[in-house]
Order: sequence, then C-alpha cells, then structure tokens
Amino acid sequence: MSVGIDEISFYTSNYYLDLRTLAEVQQIDSEKYYQGIGQEKMSMAAPDEDVVTMAANAAQPLVERVGADAITTLMFATETGVDQSKAAGVYVHRLLGLDSNCRVVELKQACYSATAAIQMACALVARQPEKKVLVVASDIARYDLDTSGEATQGCGAVAVLISANPRLIEIDPEVGNYTEDVMDFWRPNYRSTALVDGKYSTKIYLKSLKKAWENFVGASSLAFNDFSHFCYHLPFSRMAEKAHKHLAKINQAGLSLEQIEQQIEDTLHYNRIIGNSYTASMYIGLTSLLENCKQNLAGKKVGFFSYGSGCVAEFFSGTVVDGYEKCLHTPNHQKMLDDRQEVSYDEYLNLYRHPDPRDGEHHDIPSSTTGRYRLAAISGHKREYVIC
Ligand code: HMG
Repeated sequence: MSVGIDEISFYTSNYYLDLRTLAEVQQIDSEKYYQGIGQEKMSMAAPDEDVVTMAANAAQPLVERVGADAITTLMFATETGVDQSKAAGVYVHRLLGLDSNCRVVELKQACYSATAAIQMACALVARQPEKKVLVVASDIARYDLDTSGEATQGCGAVAVLISANPRLIEIDPEVGNYTEDVMDFWRPNYRSTALVDGKYSTKIYLKSLKKAWENFVGASSLAFNDFSHFCYHLPFSRMAEKAHKHLAKINQAGLSLEQIEQQIEDTLHYNRIIGNSYTASMYIGLTSLLENCKQNLAGKKVGFFSYGSGCVAEFFSGTVVDGYEKCLHTPNHQKMLDDRQEVSYDEYLNLYRHPDPRDGEHHDIPSSTTGRYRLAAISGHKREYVIC
C-alpha cells in the first residue's frame, strides 16, 4: 500500500505589490528583484485575512470533494500563529464543518513544519489506511520596512490531503534529516516581524541541504540521477537555483545549466508572483510543477528539500501517480492569481500597517478580502470569523 498526497489546493490574497514599485521607491534597479532574487510580485494579506481564513480558503475545495466527515485529523502548520494556546486549526475545523470527532493540532518549526505534519500524517494513514488527514500550511511573511528581507515578503496557504493509494504523489518512507541550533531567522513572541541574518541564512540553507541529502542517500537506494524534478523551500526563487546547482555539484552530476534549470523551473511560477509563504511555499512549488509542467510526470521521481530556519531540514522523495493531471485545481488557481489587484506603494503601506487591536474593545474589521472566509471582528480579545 502506498501513502501520500491525494489532492492539493492553495490560496493567496487578492492584493499584491509589484516589486518594480518597491524598487522605484527605493531608487534601485528593479532587476535586483526580478533577476537577482527571482521575485516579481508579493501577495499582501487584506486586513480581514489571516492564517485561519487563508487556510480555510485553501482547504475548502478538498473538503467539498471528499466530504467533511471523511477527515479524521487536521494538522495546521504555521509560524504566524494567532494565539499562543488555541490551535488556529480549531477555527478552521468550524469554518469547514469538520466532524466533532476530528483531531486538531498546530505545529511550528519555521518553514519546515508543513513537512513534519505531512510525514506524521503519512504515519497515521499507514497505521489506519481508511483514514484521511488534512494538512494545512498557512503563513504571512513579514519583515521590517527598508530591510533586505522586505522584498521577500508574501502570504499564502496550501491544503494537502494525505491518504492511502493517493492520486497525486506517493511519498517514500526514507528521509534525510538535519538539525542545528542556529540564529539565521527568528521572531520573538513580542514581535510581528521576523529578524534575519540574511546572507548567513542562505549559507545555512545550503549547508543543511548537503547534510540532509547525505543523510537521505544513506537511507535510500535513490541517487541524484533517479530524480526528474526537485522542489525546494522557496524563500525567493533564486534560492532554489542556488540550492540545485549546489546539489548537482556535490553529486558531480555533469548536467548542463539548462538541464539543471529544467529540473526546477516549473516549481517556481507561482512563488515568483506570490512571494514567501514560509511553510506553505514548497508545497505551492509542488502545485506549480504539477500544474505547469508540459511533460507528463506520471511515474517520475521528485526530490523535496524542506528547510525551516533555526534550523531543521529534511530531504525526501515521492513518485508522481499515473492520472495525476485529472485531480488538479489548475483553473481555480489560475483564476485566483489572474484576478488579483495590484496595489500602489501607499496602499501597500496601509496593508502592512493595518491596526491590530489589542485593547479588548469590539472592533469590526472592514470587508476587503475576496476570499470565502474572513475575520469580521476582534471583540473581547476574541477573533470572530465568518463565511461570506
Ligand atoms: P540583499 O543582501 O539585499 O541582496 O538581499 P544582494 O545584494 O545579495 O543581491 C541579491 C542578488 O541580486 C545577488 O545575486 C546580486 O548580485 C543580484 P547573487 O550574488 O546572490 O547571485 N543583483 C542584481 N541582479 C541583476 N540586476 C541587478 C542586481 N543587483 C543585485 N541590478 C537576502 C538578499 C537573501 C539577504 C535578502 O533577500 C533577505 O534577507 N531575505 C530574507 C532571508 C531569506 O530569505 N533567507 C533565505 C534562506 S533562510 C529560509 O529560507 C527560511 C525562511 O523562509 C524563514 C523560515 O524558515 O521560516 C526565510
């Protein structure tokens, strides 16, 4: 019996800032963003959107197809938690009408937590193959204004249904892990924006890739040349290029630059125009590959490198299932991305600085998102979510 990804769907906000606008305000060459970091646009969450509403929007099409009662566990991966105690997934559980006997938990380890959730979900399904586990990963990437991280902001959520005999990706049990206590990127509880040692973080990312890969090849019978495509964690799309060149060099793969690019380029389309969505980003990259690759991927091996600052990394592999193309949500994703609204620099600042009421009074949040779920009010320190 195989276990893995049966269905995948993502959501991002209806607002974006073009990085040319940011470059213009900063009086720098926009090619630094378009070419240098490989990013064109970044999604900005609406004031009535957060990780809960984004996650519910991402998961709704999956739940509608499979039926709310079929889901026995909901795992919510995020580093943009809305509460220090209550799991954000409990709100999503209600919004999606899941069964009251469904287990819900929140997981955190920077951008790695969705992968931890997926591996744990696979273990649950391997134990009881009739169960289906919904993993949602949802994040809003925020850095201080006028810092090197600013252009790598973004937001998004992805929902992944894990089942036996999956229709999209069979996940192999062998993995390679690497963990090291480092301060490359972190966000203390009292801050709403992350702190980052940018250049150092990219070095640690590459070191973790090498270490996780070495651990993986010790456990798996697969070698570099067995893979047709690779999905990397995508803080910005040039990072995947740097990572893949690094991995090809370690393996003395002898591939041309064009071949190296071909193995990753279709994973980058969506992230280039969404920005970093932290723990959701690698799985939005996988969706981009499945939905945009012209080649039939059935039977192909895909390598996954998941990295979460701090840091925990994992390399794992999967096989694309025959008939996968019939189970995708490509038209919905394309429409959502096409319908987004560009914002001016001032509008971007308003979205960035939108008030975060903390006084316990009742605050209605003006309606702004085009998503199906919204944060309607914060009242008595409680978040009030509604279905539109
Ligand atoms: P920077 O230091 O301002 O940029 O920001 P730079 O000066 O290094 O330039 C970037 C690239 O653009 C360079 O290319 C330049 O040459 C090029 P490279 O040397 O890298 O090949 N460039 C140009 N290209 C064309 N035309 C031009 C031009 N000008 C320059 N005119 C930095 C870069 C990564 C530091 C910044 O974006 C940052 O701090 N980002 C946030 C941290 C980050 O994303 N780290 C990635 C690894 S850590 C991670 O992935 C985890 C994370 O997702 C969090 C989590 O786990 O939760 C962040």
